[in-house]
Amino acid sequence: MKYSENKETLWYKDAIIYEVHIKSFYDSNGDGIGDLEGFLQKLDYLQDLGITTIWLLPFYPSPLRDDGYDIADYYSLNPDYGNISLFKKLIREAHARDLKVITELVINHTSDQHPWFQRARKATVGSPERNYYVWIDHTDKYKEAWIIFTDTETSNWSWDEEAQMYYWHRFFSHQPDLNFDNPLVQQEVLNILHFWLETGVDGFRLDAVPYLFEREDTNCENLPETHQFLKKLRRYVDDHFENKLLLAEANMWPEDSVAYFGDGDECHMNFHFPIMPRMFMAVKMENRYPITDIIDQTPDIPSDCQWAIFLRNHDELTLEMVTDEERDYMYRVYTKEARAKINVGIRHRLAPLLENNRSLIELMNVLLFSLPGTPVIYYGDEIGMGDNFYLGDRDGVRTPMQWNSNKNAGFSTANPHKLYLPVIIDPEYRYENINVENQQRNPSSLLWWMKRLISMRKKYPAFGRGDIEFLTPSNAKILAFTRTYNEDTLLIIANLSRFPQAVELDLEKYAGLVPVELFSRNPFPPIKEAPYLFTLASNGYFWFSIESAKEKVPSEMPLIHLEVENLENLLEGNIRNKLESLVLPHYLLGTRWFGGKGQTIQSVHLSTSIPIRFKSQIFLLNSLRVIYNDYMPEDYILPLGFVSADDKDSQTIPLKAKLATIDPEGIPGWLIDAVYSSEFRSFLFRMIQDSSIIRYKSIELKGDQSQNMIPDQQEPKNRLMDTDQSNTSIIYDEKYFLKLYRKIDAIINPDLEIVRFLSEEKNFENVPEYKGSIHLQEKGQQPMVVAMLQRMVENQGEAFGFTKDMIERFLDNAMSQGDLKHFWPEEKSLTIPLTDEELTDEVNELLGPQALSLMALLGQRTAEMHLALTSSTQPEFQPEYFSKHYQRSLYSSLRSLNRTAMDNLKRILHYLPEELNHRA
Ligand code: NOJ
Ligand code: CA
Repeated sequence: MKYSENKETLWYKDAIIYEVHIKSFYDSNGDGIGDLEGFLQKLDYLQDLGITTIWLLPFYPSPLRDDGYDIADYYSLNPDYGNISLFKKLIREAHARDLKVITELVINHTSDQHPWFQRARKATVGSPERNYYVWIDHTDKYKEAWIIFTDTETSNWSWDEEAQMYYWHRFFSHQPDLNFDNPLVQQEVLNILHFWLETGVDGFRLDAVPYLFEREDTNCENLPETHQFLKKLRRYVDDHFENKLLLAEANMWPEDSVAYFGDGDECHMNFHFPIMPRMFMAVKMENRYPITDIIDQTPDIPSDCQWAIFLRNHDELTLEMVTDEERDYMYRVYTKEARAKINVGIRHRLAPLLENNRSLIELMNVLLFSLPGTPVIYYGDEIGMGDNFYLGDRDGVRTPMQWNSNKNAGFSTANPHKLYLPVIIDPEYRYENINVENQQRNPSSLLWWMKRLISMRKKYPAFGRGDIEFLTPSNAKILAFTRTYNEDTLLIIANLSRFPQAVELDLEKYAGLVPVELFSRNPFPPIKEAPYLFTLASNGYFWFSIESAKEKVPSEMPLIHLEVENLENLLEGNIRNKLESLVLPHYLLGTRWFGGKGQTIQSVHLSTSIPIRFKSQIFLLNSLRVIYNDYMPEDYILPLGFVSADDKDSQTIPLKAKLATIDPEGIPGWLIDAVYSSEFRSFLFRMIQDSSIIRYKSIELKGDQSQNMIPDQQEPKNRLMDTDQSNTSIIYDEKYFLKLYRKIDAIINPDLEIVRFLSEEKNFENVPEYKGSIHLQEKGQQPMVVAMLQRMVENQGEAFGFTKDMIERFLDNAMSQGDLKHFWPEEKSLTIPLTDEELTDEVNELLGPQALSLMALLGQRTAEMHLALTSSTQPEFQPEYFSKHYQRSLYSSLRSLNRTAMDNLKRILHYLPEELNHRA
């Protein structure tokens, strides 16, 4: 099956999961506890981060002795967080942002405060109520089951005074295990599951699922009865709902873990626990073996199933699925203080585990995002939050999210003593430094790096769906593998060493293809039959896609549909996000005027938007900010409008003018670049003619008419000039010429300043007279020039095109007569210009009769213009002293211009047709 065909049902394969507790994210009412209202306010943050799925830790009423995994009521929310109706709102709001939400189905045990347990202890022995839990009057049973919370518990049995019997618990003694041999318990679980799926949640993490049943002479884990029950659960979900996910938490060795997929009829996903500590081992041992070995030991899984992989979560870094020697090693290298150990694991967040080493944090995330499975990020790790193991149990990794450097890290306005847990004030990780706001402001921050990683992963389905094949270079410090899905192959190389490394990879089967580095889109030298040498920086990494040397023909992408009631909806929530992330980058790349085509666009944002009502139409005039991976951001103007499919003019609108399909007020049509609308073009003229001002929020759009008034007249006929230019030109009545600027600066526009000065101050005749302009201004910011209107000069084109044609003609003629050198005086080099006297009659003839006189005229006019400009007393037009420094800096900038041009040429060299390639 192709990716697109099963995109919806297999969404979890392409997901990026973000694990978070409502109480830890954002406190909206200042009681010190994060809540749903707060969470709603931070959804935009998650959307911006780029994750696709939110995993919410337990939020039910609970005594909170196991942070909510001790549930006292399955059907409501802990009132500190909110209520069901707010929860449903969260689901709606998340879905509106294309975010899925999964929650916790904790069914192995309840809190001892759950009414079922309170009822059971009082019920008669053997009654269905008593049998909701597992009871016995001695403790000899199930002795092979080991103890999980070794730091707090000494037995899996605890005595209950009221019942006068022992009850069974695999975790804390206040968490009695439910008895799955009781059909009533099984039915309760289906009811709970049904209830939450009806609220719209997209799936569940099944907590502690290997322990549902108990049988004598077994370790009471992974029993056939447990798998039977999971099949029943899955059937129920499939019969009643669509596209829901069951994610098992089965902390087991790979062969036991895969059993939770069944034959594709149990859980869709399962955590790959054993790979996690091995990633940490591999970077400490500087050897790939722990990773390759565990993947080799992992059986294939049914095709619709998927692993979930993670680096850290809300629990200790568990070391249950490693050998004793490996555990000793992990403790030795990853804990500096004994207190960091808890149960069978280490209670640290990602950054402290990796000693806050940015390269290692990146490398580990690169592994997380490229090994097979769906990555799960633990909240706060995207900004490198610290921890505090003095807080007891696992609370040290559950502290409030750090939003900014204000009180309580911006998490809550409560008295700091009142917070559910204190914020991190450790000098190295203190919230004043490590917080979202600081990192959003700095494009080099970890947060920005994570955003780029996430967005890159989302572009290549092979990460979520591809096969894995390891390469086996002799340098064992290098982990290299390919991920292949359909026709796409990705090559991932990771240097596990803290020193630079060289590695030769056998890529023979890709000979002739080119590794293109994903983040820069830089093609590396083509692959040959011989081994390919890569060098990697300390803990460096590469993500390549293996591509054909020929340029990929971009597939004719069908237009995206945006669900809007009216154009202004484009500025809101999810629609705006779709417009910014999907529609605009794609559209920009197809326009002539967009200058960033050689760059990798990281994101596009609408920075200033102003709705315009003109006659019966609505338009949106926008300025966009384009952020590149490795280039300065740029701003562009893009007016948007709507044309209905029924409109007779819509036939004349070219495909390149269309951004998306929309149906405002139910009328189907297209979102277009408004310069293709004649009404919009009229509007621009009228803005200037009437010197109008339009205000919207803090934005002002202002038309300005020159002293050389445009005579009041009927609405002029307009047309769009369809030429190859970096701006857009509109002609009115063949008398006026309007230049709509595309790339803009919020500083003075020299084009406008010069034209205006020459025509208004100097009456300089040889520049098309200035007639007016339009400015867009956000309060407190510099105005941006959107358009300039000039008198139209009848012309046969512009000098640039004219000259180019002339040279082409000359070359054609000259070449047809043999060697070009023949026209060139022997002693002259190509870089020293000839004077016109030096030209032979033959050359003059080939250039054409007017060539020289026109050049002379151009020179004369240019000189006159300079004279006019320098005659001004305005400081902007004063000649600048051409100092040695100025000369040097000019040299430097020309050099770098030259270098960039050559670099660009080199980059695209192998995309050029053969015959051009060697010349280039
Ligand atoms: C697994 C959860 O991840 C952990 O936090 C919890 O303590 C145990 N289940 C017991 O509920
Ligand atoms: Ca609160």
